Formats: sequence, C-alpha cells, structure tokens
Amino acid sequence: MKLAVVVLVAGLCAIASTNVVKEQKVADKNYQKIQKDVLLILQNINQPSYYKEYVDIGNTYSVSENKQKYTNQSAVEQFLQQYQYGFLPRGQIFSVFYYNQLKQAIALFRLFYYAQDYQTFYNTAVWARQNLNEGLFLYAYSVAVAHRPDTMQIVLPPIYEVYPYYFVNADAIQQAYKYKQQYGGENVQEGGYNGYTINYNYSGYYLNLHPEQGLSYYLEDVGINSFYYYYNIYYPFWMSSKEFGFQYVNRGEEYYYLYQQLLARYYLERLSNGYGDTPYFDLNAPFETPYYPSLQYPNGLPFPSRPAYANLNEYYYNYGQKWTTSGVYGYSPALIEDYERRITDAIDSGYIYSKGQQIDLYSKEGFNVLGNIIQANQDSPNYVYYGAVWYFASHLLGYSYQPLNDYQIAPSALEHFETALRDPAFYQLYKRIVLRFQRYYSNVKPYSYDDLVFPGVKITQFNVDKLVTYEDDYYIDVSNAVYYSQKELQQQQQQQSGQGNFNVRVKQTRLNNKPFTYKINVQSEKATKAVVKIYLGPVYDEYERNINLTQNRLNFVGLDYFVYDLQSGENVISRNSYDSMYFAQDPVSYDDLLRQYSGQQQPVQGEQNYYSFPQRYMLPKGSKGGYPYQFYVIVYPYVPKEGQQQESQGSGSQGYQSFFYPTVEGKQFYDSYSLGYPFDRFIEYEEMFYQIPNIYSYQTNIYHYKNVNAVQSD
Ligand SMILES: *[C@@H]1O[C@H](CO)[C@@H](O)[C@H](O)[C@H]1NC(C)=O
Ligand SMILES: *[C@@H]1O[C@H](CO)[C@@H](O)[C@H](O)[C@H]1NC(C)=O
Ligand SMILES: *[C@@H]1O[C@H](CO)[C@@H](O)[C@H](O)[C@H]1NC(C)=O
Repeated sequence: MKLAVVVLVAGLCAIASTNVVKEQKVADKNYQKIQKDVLLILQNINQPSYYKEYVDIGNTYSVSENKQKYTNQSAVEQFLQQYQYGFLPRGQIFSVFYYNQLKQAIALFRLFYYAQDYQTFYNTAVWARQNLNEGLFLYAYSVAVAHRPDTMQIVLPPIYEVYPYYFVNADAIQQAYKYKQQYGGENVQEGGYNGYTINYNYSGYYLNLHPEQGLSYYLEDVGINSFYYYYNIYYPFWMSSKEFGFQYVNRGEEYYYLYQQLLARYYLERLSNGYGDTPYFDLNAPFETPYYPSLQYPNGLPFPSRPAYANLNEYYYNYGQKWTTSGVYGYSPALIEDYERRITDAIDSGYIYSKGQQIDLYSKEGFNVLGNIIQANQDSPNYVYYGAVWYFASHLLGYSYQPLNDYQIAPSALEHFETALRDPAFYQLYKRIVLRFQRYYSNVKPYSYDDLVFPGVKITQFNVDKLVTYEDDYYIDVSNAVYYSQKELQQQQQQQSGQGNFNVRVKQTRLNNKPFTYKINVQSEKATKAVVKIYLGPVYDEYERNINLTQNRLNFVGLDYFVYDLQSGENVISRNSYDSMYFAQDPVSYDDLLRQYSGQQQPVQGEQNYYSFPQRYMLPKGSKGGYPYQFYVIVYPYVPKEGQQQESQGSGSQGYQSFFYPTVEGKQFYDSYSLGYPFDRFIEYEEMFYQIPNIYSYQTNIYHYKNVNAVQSD
C-alpha cells in the first residue's frame, strides 16, 4: 500500500535538474530550511519552545493584523471566530473523533493552507505551536505540510518519535521518565549510542489477557500504526475533493480497498498464529473481545479499556453516566443501526436519495459513491441521512465515556488514528463495513470468462525464492516523551543541532523478512502493454481445511501491481520484493533527519517513500516448519481509465495522487478495472478461475526463524 504523494521528493529533484544549476541550489537550500523548520517545530511538542525566534513570534504575531496575507478571507474569519469563542486549551487531550475539536482543527488547517507564502505559513505555525493545544496543532500542521504545494514534498518525521505516548506502552514511557529524573542532563555511552536504552516487550508478554493478545506484536507495531495515521493525514475524510484537489481520486473506492486489504493482511497474520476468521459481532449481543490498551495520555489519564462481553446497547453502555443531554455519542448504538439500515436499503433498492435527487448506485460511478457514503466524507451526497457508521462505532466499541464537556474527553484507542489498529475491535468493525460493500457485489454479476481472459497471453510458469521471516531488533527514540527544563531546552538551541543532552530510546523486536525475487514466465502472441497484479492468499483455514477461492477471495493481499511491456514470444518477468510500490523501508529516524538537515550530515535526497505499509510486514510470520500460502498472479490488458490519466509531478493541489495505482512514465496510471479486480466480485465457477491462461496460482511455504543468524546459517 503506497502513498504516492511522497514520491514527489524525487519528482522535485527531477524538475529542478532541468533548470540552471544556480536555481537548483537555491531550491535545495529552501527545501533544507523548510525541512529543518518542520523538525524543530515538532520537537518536544508538549512543551512551549524556548527558541528565541519562536518565543518572539508566539508573543507578537497576530492573525487578525495580517489578514491580507491569507488568500481566503472567509477561512481567516472562520478561524478568528472559533478562536474568539475559545479553542481547546493546552494540555487537554485532542481527538478528531469529537466533532467540536475536529471543527477547530479544520479551521486551523484552513488558515495554514491559505497562508499566501511559506513565510506566512511559518509565522502562523510557530504562533499556533506556542499558543494553541499541542495535539490539535500537531494534527492541523501535519495535514497542512502534507497538502500545501510548497511543503508537500517535505518529509514528516516518524510520528512514533514525535508523539511516543500513542505508540509506546506506558511502562516504557514511565521508565524513560525515571531515567530522566535520575540522570537528567548526563548521557551515558552505551554500545555506540549516546543515551539510555529501554528493553521493552509488547503488551501480550506482560499481561494475561485474551488469547488474541498473542498478536500484540502485529497490533502494536509502530510501522503499521503510523502507516494508518499518515494515510489519514494525506486523505482526511473531512476534505472536499473540489477545495483540495482530490477530484481525480476515486476516494470512495479506495476507502473500500484500504480496509479490505488491511483485513486480509490481518487474517494472514492470524493464520500464522493459529487463529481463524476475524469474529463478526452483533450489536444486540455482548461484544466478546476485551481490550486493555496499556497506553497512557501525557496528562496521566490511562486510555479507557473495554471489558470482556461488553454490552453495546445504550442503557448498559452509558450506565451510571450523565449522557442524554451531553452530546450525541451516548446515542451511538441507535445511530449505527439507523445509518446501517439506510445504507443497506440504498444498496438493495439501487438508489441513493440526495436532496430530492436519485443517484443510481449501479452506474459506472456507483461503487465510488457508495464508498463516499460509507466513509461519510465531504463528497457524500447525503451525509445527514447516511451518517458516519465508523465514527460512532469507534466511540461505541472503544467503550469510552461520555464527555462532560467539549474539552475534557478520554478517547479510546479506536478514537485516534495513531492507536486504532491496536485494538482487535478495529478489525471486527471494518469487517462489518467491508461486508456491507460486499452486499453491493451480491447484486452485481460475477466476472465471466470474457471479463477475465487476456487473449493471446498465457502464464506458463512461476518461481519464487524460499520465503523467510525473522525477528529483528528495532530502536525508537522516545526523547520527545520526557520533559525538559527551560535551561536544558536553551542549551539544546545553542547546540544548533537541536539535539539535547539527554537521549532515551526503546528497543523492541519487530518482524522482518528476507528479500525475495520471483519470476513469472509469460507467453504472448504479440507485443502489448499489460498490467500485472500479484496477490498473496491463504490455502487452508486454521484447521488445515482446504478453502476454495470462492470463500477465500477477500483474504488475498496485494503484493505488487505494475505495468509491463510484453514482447511477442516468451517473456520472463523478474521482480524483487523491494520493487513493490505498496511497501516502504523503515523511515529515517527523527534524530538522523535532524542531523542531516542541521548541517551535520549531508541530507540524503532521492525517492523517499516513507508512509506506506512497512516492508517488514510484506509477508505474514509463517511458522517454523513452514506455513502454506499461495501466490496468485493475473496479467490483464492495459486500459487506462478515460480522462483520468494525469501527471504525477503536478504541483499544487492539482498534483494530488491516488494512493493505490502505479506510475507509468511519469504519469499515474488509473486502471479501468476496479482496484479489487478480480477478487472484488462473487465467484460463480471456482474451476474457471484456475483455467484462465493469464491467471496462475502457486502454493509455497513461509518459514519463521527467531533471529537473523538462524536465517543465514540455513
Ligand atoms: C475559502 O474557505 C472556505 C471555508 O472557510 C471554503 O468554503 C471556500 O471554498 C474557500 N474558497 C476557495 C476559493 O478556496
Ligand atoms: C521480554 O520478553 C522476553 C521473552 O520473550 C524476556 O526474556 C524478557 O525478560 C522480557 N523483557 C522485559 C523487559 O520484560
Ligand atoms: C473446491 O474447488 C475444487 C476445484 O478446485 C472442486 O473440485 C471442489 O468441488 C470445490 N469444493 C467446493 C466445496 O466448492
């Protein structure tokens, strides 16, 4: 799963190199300054900064006195109005799942977005960083950096190092505090590291909870969780396509595909651990899976937990709380039922009702519209009527409390994009949503032989290296989680680099896999452009029963997707696991970025695709003796979608890219087939799927080793 926008770093270089050398240098200098600004602004975000420049801007800048420096006056007015009537104070918990807080974050984002130039954006951001709530600022600022034409190519530092509280369990954060209090400004030198290291396990190690806690290494993985966070920074549900340039992106369809893929990937990991299907829940029966988040808010409040067999109906869910007049969230069960009913009715009747107008759901654009409705994004034709099931279900399943007022909230893990994937209920919720989309497909004709066949093209062979996963040590810098005195922060500033005298990091084990290569032999009668999709799926269920494709099709994970020029005759397509656009290497750590952009080290520019699903998790864990999975390859004709092919290096909001499609010759390729093709629709004839010459399935095992040495000696 790839985030195409970030590849713009490479794009930027490509554009710059066509200009005269002098100009290129200036551009690079600018880029470096902006990159450094972003890092310093996000440093120790929970404390006011003591950089003299920041303090001055924080005390003197005034939005209302600089109104003319923003290109959209109504955005400025809206912000000032919000600000005048009270913004979320500093120190309070922020969550986009609380409507009033979201409204404020959007107002702040718009102010950032419409700043006329970088300098104005910078002043506004520094002012906001010093004066507004830190969580709200972090969110609005990150979205603005990702969307402003002059900053969209900037790398955001890994969120788990900017805000470790939402990624690292409370016991490790507590240990970091302890080191800070005991050893303050004295760093130790340990194994080449200038600071303290905390050894740390996932919560499943410490607590005797639900058996599925065995999956905590996957659920709590910092890379997987930050992928989901960044996805929501780049594609916020509340943005309108028109205002922010998403018009080329089929966001409704992508919404479906993202969750279907996340679920499939989770299922593959479950199989390796001996668990089967993600459970399905019923709103009228107790919710079986308990959840204890092991996380703590910076203000000391623990994340709310959910008991086993939690009751989901309003009476039990709100028991003992003042709720009937304190906001809508207490009504979540009823709202979910209403919205789900209306969506199902729309699917089976074939029409969506919007302001007296009927929209045909089974037209070419229908599925995308359905996605917009279910995501309840700004493009939903009738938000009021079809609502936002996922929004209210996150309140409900997270089992958070009803807020007493807008500013004192205690959101559950499900109510932050940073932490939602840690709760197994996330997958149960989205399974319900993905199955609602499947209800749509139950009314659509399955693919016929002619829909699948690529005349004249035949896959004759497939080979892949031995697939191996292993456990690997990983370090996360948590120096941003502890608090510093004014003196310490001023020293940091003097050292220019921005690095303090005290560093602390967490060491944990993460899954990884050996790179592998696969070869596909394709026979073609003529030279032609083709699309190649490669999926990884299960063969058996958890009881080693053979599961037919008909029942298994939603469990296939996209491994790779590219366009290939087939020659007439025999073609051997060789691909490495690193070639896939869906996966990303580990991001450069906050510290290294700072070193690079504060002049201590040469910045490494080039293609920086940081925000995708981690390459480490390209393969499920497998097992010691080998766990069987299958590759499934389909080669089909290259047919770009009409009117949707666009430059991938466009500037400004118009350059906005879709998340899931490959890039061909500098342009994003919008496939005229659906994203989930050929597994999105129901399958009528199992046999047919194996007889199509341009489809090939190949069964193999994934082996798991405890450490990399065992892998090498193998
Ligand atoms: C200006 O901002 C308002 C919201 O604050 C938005 O509705 C409007 O579309 C924006 N105008 C332009 C030209 O982008
Ligand atoms: C982490 O787990 C391993 C066993 O898997 C154990 O040996 C080690 O002591 C644990 N470390 C901590 C800090 O709990
Ligand atoms: C599963 O597929 C095989 C062919 O691949 C077929 O022989 C068998 O009848 C199928 N089983 C069911 C239950 O559909």
